Amino acid sequence: MPNSFKRTLVTAALPYANGPVHIGHLAGCYLPADIYVRYLRSIGSDVKFICGSDEHGVPITIKAKKEGITPQQVVDKYHKIMGDAFNEFGISFDIYSRTSNKTHHQTASDFFKTLYDKGGFTEQVTEQYYDEEAKQFLADRYITGTCPKCANPNAYGDQCEKCGSTLNATDLIDARSTLSGSKPVLKQTKNWFLPLDKLQPKIKAYIDLHSNWKPNVYGQCKSWIESGDGLQPRAMTRDLDWGVKVPVAGADGKVLYVWFDAPIGYISATKELLPNNWKDYWQNKESRLIHFIGKDNIVFHCIIFPAMLMEHGEFVLPDNVPANEFLNLEGEKISTSRNWAVWLHEYLQEFKGQQDVLRYMLCSNAPETKDNDFTWKDLQTKNNSELVAILGNFVNRTVVLTHKFYNGKVPAAEKFSKEDMIVLEELAKFPSKISEPLEHFKFREAISELMNLARLGNKYLADTEPWKLIKTDEERVKTIMNIALQITTNLAILSEPFLPFTSKKLFSFLNINPLTWLFAKKTNNLPTNHVIGKEELLFAKIEDEQIQLQLQKLENSKKENTPAPSIPPQKVETTFDEFSKMDIRVGTILEAERVPKTDKLLKLKIDTGIDVRTVVSGIAEWYKPEDIIGVQVSILANLAPRKIKGIESQGMILMAENTQGELSFVVPTKKDKTNNGSIVK
Ligand code: 2FM
Ligand code: ZN
Repeated sequence: MPNSFKRTLVTAALPYANGPVHIGHLAGCYLPADIYVRYLRSIGSDVKFICGSDEHGVPITIKAKKEGITPQQVVDKYHKIMGDAFNEFGISFDIYSRTSNKTHHQTASDFFKTLYDKGGFTEQVTEQYYDEEAKQFLADRYITGTCPKCANPNAYGDQCEKCGSTLNATDLIDARSTLSGSKPVLKQTKNWFLPLDKLQPKIKAYIDLHSNWKPNVYGQCKSWIESGDGLQPRAMTRDLDWGVKVPVAGADGKVLYVWFDAPIGYISATKELLPNNWKDYWQNKESRLIHFIGKDNIVFHCIIFPAMLMEHGEFVLPDNVPANEFLNLEGEKISTSRNWAVWLHEYLQEFKGQQDVLRYMLCSNAPETKDNDFTWKDLQTKNNSELVAILGNFVNRTVVLTHKFYNGKVPAAEKFSKEDMIVLEELAKFPSKISEPLEHFKFREAISELMNLARLGNKYLADTEPWKLIKTDEERVKTIMNIALQITTNLAILSEPFLPFTSKKLFSFLNINPLTWLFAKKTNNLPTNHVIGKEELLFAKIEDEQIQLQLQKLENSKKENTPAPSIPPQKVETTFDEFSKMDIRVGTILEAERVPKTDKLLKLKIDTGIDVRTVVSGIAEWYKPEDIIGVQVSILANLAPRKIKGIESQGMILMAENTQGELSFVVPTKKDKTNNGSIVK
């Protein structure tokens, strides 16, 4: 930790209280945050770990509608399920609060009022979508449509989860109400906007100061600020009835935007935890603020919340935002609605006492720099070949042999051989081998060093073979077993942030009180003649049947949740005249390349017969650039040009979409009869 800081406030994203926690949430933010905090506590840092349920916003009201209960009932139910599951999984929050409580409403309301009084908002009457059937304004997740930036057809009114852009509902193409499915109308309403456009220079200066952030985070921030038209004013209030009431006159029926109130939840929860000294963590330059989040939350924590804090003026700004990418499951995106997930509360039921197996798997396979995949087979392998075969095996042999040879009494190390000296030297290096990557949020590297320490122990026993040597050289075996026990002690210390349940067991096998990180720099923590405890099973093998069961469960949920493919009904009648306005031509793709930082888009150069032009098309999932050079396609040539990701797209390639949503080109079948520029009619 940089020396200039005296204390650290670590926050983990407040999860929406509209469903249980799954492995994607854990890998994205809660597990790395917990490891980091446990490490800081172990080195003696002053740290507080803050989280709670995000109980406002449209996701909650949608869930309430679906389940036929009130929003308060929804959040009460899931706040408990989530809080209990985190706790059982060993996520060691200092407080797990909730945003529906009084302290939070007051804090968020005061924060808004301070900005309002300072003239920090612009008041604007704008046209917002309104559902005439449901008789309500449609904000955020009440509305879906096509993302104007990456063509994702399922973008929400506030955000596209595919490309990560923040959106305003009116940006969406073909917007639809998620309440009634109907096409919404525009209706005027007054709201308060944070003028991010005016704040852009300040925000840019702030981001520029943080080029040390993880490349995935820093890169996203830069691209928001630099791409297209830059930052846009964003409404901080909504026409909804669930949330923190807007505390100014003329705001009846309006609440704070959930992304305005949720991050203030970190402040409210700190207040609850430390009513007398919460300001030490929030309003003191010697305090460091770190937000752990998933990648879909980056813009809110790196741009919008810092802008709010800057405008308020009394708060420290986030010092780091070590966001992870997404975790997929068995090659597919985790999906709550399709029940394609591993739910934490179910894992805890089905793999009782095996929290550390999942912690180990999710940390060593964390989506730190890119999206990553979780498979049950990998979990089995990590458990059986690493936790059982390396760590478990080493500890088991050490404890069992100590009981067998010395009735559990730690033997004295008398004379160190060269081999012993090398092992002890190596052992002393591990605290920094692990802490160095940890301090840079490289959790995968850190946990692999932890396993290397167990490997060192295993190899030492395999090389020295005390079980054979005991027959010929009893004195030497004492030293060997002493060293093996010292390695076990340091494993107990250094594993704590990652595998707290295992660490606890190890300290109990060793029959000593938990030691902090600083002790692992020593290699003689266990005194001679100390009597160690009994060994129990550290890790159990996971059998093929258990894995099969989990895979079967996923298959079943796929069957239950995949809607039968349906052919969309015919659209409303059109006229030949209307159709004739479309100028569709045959063209040939001359060049194709991926649009950087997007998953879906290709930039194509097309010879239309009329000219050679650029078209941006959302087909990267279906075609590789190198495979489509020279292919003839149909192109709508007279479509008004549009900017997509800063590139002007002059036309649209016609695609056939099947019931699975897969796309393919609509191509002429007689290539020799269709020169470029041929008219499609
Ligand atoms: O994405 C989510 O689940 C949000 N509820 C995260 C909020 S983080 C913070 F701002 F509270
Ligand atoms: Zn998008």
